[in-house]
Amino acid sequence: MRSQQGLSDMEYYDTDPVRLSEGDKSIIIIDQRFLPNEEITREIVSAEDMYDAIKTLAVRGAPCIGIFAAYCVYVRSLYTKDDELDKALNDLAKYLNSSRPTAVNLSWALKEQMKVLDQTRGQPADKRRQGLLETAQQIHISDIETCEKIAEYGLTLIKENDGVITHCNAGALATSRLGTGLGPLLLAAKRGIKLRPYVDETRPLLQGARLTAYELERAGLEPTLICDNMAAYVMSRGLVNAVFIGADRIAANGDTANKIGSLSLAINAKHFGVPFYVFAPTSTIDKSCKTGREIEIELRDNDEIKSLYFQRPIAPENVRCLNPAFDVVEHELITAIITEDGIHYPPYAFN
Ligand code: MRU
Repeated sequence: MRSQQGLSDMEYYDTDPVRLSEGDKSIIIIDQRFLPNEEITREIVSAEDMYDAIKTLAVRGAPCIGIFAAYCVYVRSLYTKDDELDKALNDLAKYLNSSRPTAVNLSWALKEQMKVLDQTRGQPADKRRQGLLETAQQIHISDIETCEKIAEYGLTLIKENDGVITHCNAGALATSRLGTGLGPLLLAAKRGIKLRPYVDETRPLLQGARLTAYELERAGLEPTLICDNMAAYVMSRGLVNAVFIGADRIAANGDTANKIGSLSLAINAKHFGVPFYVFAPTSTIDKSCKTGREIEIELRDNDEIKSLYFQRPIAPENVRCLNPAFDVVEHELITAIITEDGIHYPPYAFN
């Protein structure tokens, strides 16, 4: 941990997936594509690198993408002439927003920064830049606090020695510090409460195997890694007491978009009577979407599923593929949605 000497006194941890560099002139990211084998950090300054970092999942996880995008707007403001701030940063926001469509936190954070530009129009350029910095840091700090509250609520849903199955990565790498879906587990580890986490590998980009297993091991939680298609087996043997997942966008009726495979997990959970919990900040709730049908699902490159994590081809070269990055869990399958405001049980009415 170190203290940030900048326009305000935000404190960053070296383990934060996204933070400002010393002097606040660039963004340092942990490049998540290389974990757990290599812990590589990269310095990001250009708009193209910002876009690529989100698109390629070097920076990923809904809240983390939002925090990163807010810092991006601030950092680009430093390299933009005073009288071009409005146009250049609005163009940047549109560009970054086109990188990935499903996680609402991206467009939410960009809109927050565009509001700052609107509200400071006519003020000295440096004051406007300071407003962008403070808003980005506020989004970051508020995510840290939100994750802490979510983790506390989540911990009341389980007891010592419970088995909890997770999907994708909703931990510190996807948010700030404690994470959302992993928050209760990481908090349990801090308090010495023993749990039995089961981690879905999460094909095709293996966020579960690469990132969640890595985070839980570092926290001392001794996770058990399974392939996605083993979840029903684990449930049928009575090994898990709850499913904990994060969310990329929650519709007003509670329908939840999350990493592809979340829907199968929810259907399995219903079949075996295992409670299915969704953890997310309120900024992930998109009141403009009445139901999950209105959520745009990102389709990604076929190469992601035709090889094992970009290494070894595992399918005929020209086979037709479908690679949706997310699916929508219908609200009927969700036992409760946990936000920083508390534990929400059905019927969900987030409007
Ligand atoms: O494609 P990714 O890795 O960005 O997908 C991430 C997820 O689906 C997470 O579960 C979700 O963003 C919640 S993160 C707290």
